[in-house]
This record gives sequence, structure tokens and C-alpha cells, in this order.
Amino acid sequence: MKLPDVLKLAPVVPVLIIEDVDKAVPLARALVKGGLKALEVTLRTPVALECIRRIAGEVEDGVAGAGTIINPAMREEAHRAGAKFGVSPGLIGNEDFDDGPLPLLPGIATATELMAGLEAGYSYFKLFPANIVGGVGALKAFASPFPQATFCPTGGVSLENAPDYLALPNVICVGGSWVAPADAVRDGDWDRITALAKQAAALGR
Ligand code: 3PG
Repeated sequence: MKLPDVLKLAPVVPVLIIEDVDKAVPLARALVKGGLKALEVTLRTPVALECIRRIAGEVEDGVAGAGTIINPAMREEAHRAGAKFGVSPGLIGNEDFDDGPLPLLPGIATATELMAGLEAGYSYFKLFPANIVGGVGALKAFASPFPQATFCPTGGVSLENAPDYLALPNVICVGGSWVAPADAVRDGDWDRITALAKQAAALGR
């Protein structure tokens, strides 16, 4: 699956921090049931790769991705675990983009980083941390000089401000952790997570 096809699956890509490997599959199923299919499992916990492996193997309609990829080795590991896409807070060299291990959504925060990313061959970027580095205003300002760039703003995005981002022509989706609150994951409150996912999936684009 190409990166834009993944990013078009739903208006919101859940950003997941999973501490307990046994929560991975029910959490993914709850999100998919609510309409969010592309799932970013951040590589921030010791079990993250195993979570990706299980989601990729057991959650039919889910598309497991890996987040917080900060070097090429992590990208390779995520690919081996079965991730279908990767997300990074920053830029990673893209010499192997076409036949490389994993389509990557790199993070940028400035025009210079965006130019470096375009030069490396990327055209989809995570604006990160979106609300801190200018949010909607920054994306509006990037639209004219960089018409070839499309964004998934992430970082401080919420149900309340997501519509402002999704209304922009250069935004394909947003990322956010609000659809999988830590307490709901810990308590296995899958109905609450499905309800949050439904709300998010219903956001217009
Ligand atoms: C992250 O990398 O943690 C994401 O940007 C999620 O940010 P959020 O918790 O503000 O949604």
C-alpha cells in the first residue's frame, strides 16, 4: 500500500503508546471498529514491535504502522515486524524510498526542513509538533511556496481543533493520541475507544 492510500483511509491516524502487549489486538480492533484503520504504534515501549507483529497478523482490517522511527535501523525493524508504514518526528534520509523497506512519513517543523525533505524525495510530511510550530497558520503559509507538499499535522491535535486542520487543502489527515487515552487502554475500555474512534472517523476532510 502506498503512503497516500494509507493516509486516506480515515481523517485521523491514532498515535498509540502500548505498554501491555496483550492490549494491542483488542485496542486495534476497537479503533478499526470505530472506523480508524491506519494505526501508528509508537516505538516507545519495549513491546512495541511485538504489538505491531500481532496487529499485522491478527487484525484483518487494520493497517499497522510504526511511529517514532528515529533512524534507519528502526525503520528496518518496523518493516520486519510487519509494519506497512512508518512515521518519524523528524527527517530520515530517503535514498531507498522507492524500493526501501517501509514508506515513511517524516516530520518537519520549518521551511528549511521541508525543503530538505522534498529534496530527499518525500512529498507527504508530518507537521510536528503541529500546535507548537504554527499549526493551521504554518500550513496555510507553506501552501503557496510548497504546493507539492501534503501534511498530516500531529502533536496537540484534538477533536476540537482537527476540523480546522482537515479543512486545509494541503492536509490529508491528522494524527493524534486522543482517540486512545492511556486510562481507557489500561482499563480495557474498548467501547469508549470505539466511540472516540467513531467521532474521529466522522470528521470531514
Ligand atoms: C506523538 O508523537 O506523541 C504525537 O505527536 C501525538 O501527539 P498528541 O499526544 O499531542 O496527540
